[in-house]
Amino acid sequence: MVSVELKAVSKNWGGAAAVDDISFTVEGGDLVALLGPSGCGKSTTLRLIAGLEDSSAGTIAIGGRDVTGAAPSQRGIAMVFQNYALFPHLSVAENILFGLKVRKVSRAERDERLKRAASILGLTGLLERKPSQLSGGQQQRVALGRAIVAEAPVCLMDEPLSNLDAQLRVEMRREIRELQQRLGITMVYVTHDQVEAMTMADQVVLMRAGRIEQDAPPDQLYENPATIFVARFVGTPPMNVIPLTSLRAAGGEGLSAPIHADPGSLAVGIRPEMTELTEAGIAADVVAVEYLGADTLVETRIEGQPFIVRRPGKVRAAAGERVHIRLSQSAVHWFDLKTEHRLVLD
Ligand SMILES: Nc1ncnc2c1ncn2[C@@H]1O[C@H](COP(=O)(O)OP(=O)(O)OP(=O)(O)O)[C@@H](O)[C@H]1O
Ligand SMILES: [Mg+2]
Repeated sequence: MVSVELKAVSKNWGGAAAVDDISFTVEGGDLVALLGPSGCGKSTTLRLIAGLEDSSAGTIAIGGRDVTGAAPSQRGIAMVFQNYALFPHLSVAENILFGLKVRKVSRAERDERLKRAASILGLTGLLERKPSQLSGGQQQRVALGRAIVAEAPVCLMDEPLSNLDAQLRVEMRREIRELQQRLGITMVYVTHDQVEAMTMADQVVLMRAGRIEQDAPPDQLYENPATIFVARFVGTPPMNVIPLTSLRAAGGEGLSAPIHADPGSLAVGIRPEMTELTEAGIAADVVAVEYLGADTLVETRIEGQPFIVRRPGKVRAAAGERVHIRLSQSAVHWFDLKTEHRLVLD
């Protein structure tokens, strides 16, 4: 299986860095998700790996071979683009098989792979149609099919499920992951959907403004977020992050900092499900109550700072009411307010 390695890679567009000194490794046969908000440099990173853009600095190796200056066709990759480019004059089957014909794969082998991909993607009845006769989601699956039949050792996918409905997304997520593992494909998968990244990836590279904020397995990202940004990006609703001084002023005097530090320099992070409403505790004002069936989100303000409590079932609380909150102290994450980094505790 083939690894992908980026070392100190940057890409500048006329002075501005879209990708700024990033390094990460995808072990052979792993699926790495590139996750982050719009414009953070995910597609650019993928295009650099594919060789569709030249890097301004750094090196890229695929399978231990330096491919920094190599043409895309020399890199042994298949790619699904964010704006899936299909040939309008070719049928679905021809679109899927296009790359295989160029590479002179035998007819029998082509038919076999086409059949398999079409069945996985639910395209079997549509093979003779032209792209213009397909829905957006179907077109997207044709683009996926083209990457799947290539059976390249490295597959790069840029938001390949963005146009599918919720149910199909869940199904395709499983199919892609199953296929990737069965064939031992090394995959870099771009998404801005944290659920997609968390459920599919062996390793998540979370990007922000062209830089890597954290590179870790999904459970580490959730349990040990390296920064306030990561803490709030992963998990819905996001982790509450609030200055320690605000909590203390509202009645949380019992909260003790884990290190000897100026309380004014610390922020407390706590997931909404690790809090409860009690008779006494930290005073909060309810601004909204959202009943979701299995649980209820109570949106509050503590000393003017937003804070969400999540409780199972239905919660009797109403906007305008004053409530009291208790935090599970062992579930608290500590951050430095200024650097936004997690406190290192020994
Ligand atoms: N050809 C280009 N010329 C100039 N700037 C570009 C070019 N392509 C991308 N950029 C800029 O680089 C930054 C990163 O873009 P990129 O497409 O990698 O983001 P992304 O993370 O994939 O976002 P999205 O989730 O919206 O697809 C953006 O600020 C974008 O405007
Ligand atoms: Mg993109």
